[in-house]
Amino acid sequence: MCPRIATDGIPGAAAFVPDAHSLAILQDAVQRCRGCTLYRNATQAVFGEMQASPANRNGAKAQIMMIGEQPGDREDKEGRPFVGPAGKLLDRCLKAGGIDRKEVYVTNAVKHFKWEPRGKLRIHKKPAASEVLACRPWLEAEIDAVCPRLIVCLGAVAAQGLLGTGFKVTKSHGTLQEAEGLPPIVATAHPASILRALKIEDRERQTASLIEDLRKAAAYRTSHAA
Ligand code: URA
Ligand code: SF4
Repeated sequence: MCPRIATDGIPGAAAFVPDAHSLAILQDAVQRCRGCTLYRNATQAVFGEMQASPANRNGAKAQIMMIGEQPGDREDKEGRPFVGPAGKLLDRCLKAGGIDRKEVYVTNAVKHFKWEPRGKLRIHKKPAASEVLACRPWLEAEIDAVCPRLIVCLGAVAAQGLLGTGFKVTKSHGTLQEAEGLPPIVATAHPASILRALKIEDRERQTASLIEDLRKAAAYRTSHAA
């Protein structure tokens, strides 16, 4: 189903993903990935995690897997996903939407931070489709290890990575999507894009819409529970 060879001459992560799909083994191995060039300017790879209890973190099965775009500046330094400003907004929306983040496995479509310098700041740069494809074997290994009942894609990069480039989050957010070989998927806005909106009214409206989508995701999870 998924192409194993990335485009644009990028080798892709497949050769770096170990056969054993335990999260602890994957998390260790991803630090040595050279599947595309993004590792070069990043501090470390940021793998997915479930906050649960520390003892449970690496073995837990989550009902929901959330997929963002790529680590940001804070995530790159701390080595954990969604711990910066976008993560704080996500936490707030999850709570309002009735989902406990501790029960969610949170990860990103791309595991290394892509950025460009602006003065002393490192500004996020959107990953290319070829880099998302290159990194996909890690995501597949995570899905295999976690077996989520539902995937929630945060933003277009994650959504289009799984549902194709024709998928529009603005049009189809909050509705259940199907992709061959994957659990049901719901896409919604990325919290970082909400933070970038200039007007407070826009941020409030988009936040309310994200919460509404997460409420729907919580309901789908329950109605699809085995
Ligand atoms: N944005 C993302 O997509 N992922 C993170 O981990 C942080 C910010
Ligand atoms: Fe490997 Fe993904 Fe990092 Fe590229 S972004 S080096 S494919 S882990």
